Amino acid sequence: MMGENYKCRDDVFFHAEKISKIYPGTKALDEVSFDLLKGKVNVLIGENGAGKSTLMKMIAGIEQPSEGTMYIEEHEVYFKNTTEARKCGIGIIHQELS
Ligand SMILES: Nc1ncnc2c1ncn2[C@@H]1O[C@H](COP(=O)(O)OP(=O)(O)OP(=O)(O)O)[C@@H](O)[C@H]1O
Ligand SMILES: [Mg+2]
Repeated sequence: MMGENYKCRDDVFFHAEKISKIYPGTKALDEVSFDLLKGKVNVLIGENGAGKSTLMKMIAGIEQPSEGTMYIEEHEVYFKNTTEARKCGIGIIHQELS
């Protein structure tokens, strides 16, 4: 099912719709929506602790969202692990080796 605000645009490869991530004691992401455009270098900017790494972990299948939906093209996707994300062409290089 499409998110109610999601418009399936031809130039959008990946769409995250209202992603939230709750860790014990912290809401790291609060209804974040995010597009990755085809054929572009896409950049995510935010202050320390804003939740950039957390969002990348959701997209790469390292962790799973508490709420929200992710789409590739018009298809809803859910990555249980990095292997499933990799099957969709998504990999990650970490900021820190830890
Ligand atoms: N495993 C975790 N358990 C609890 N809280 C966490 C966990 N990972 C991240 N957080 C918290 O979630 C928030 C977002 O952290 P995140 O690392 O995603 O931010 P960031 O934008 O990548 O920051 P930076 O610019 O420092 O890399 C922070 O408040 C952080 O303390
Ligand atoms: Mg980070």
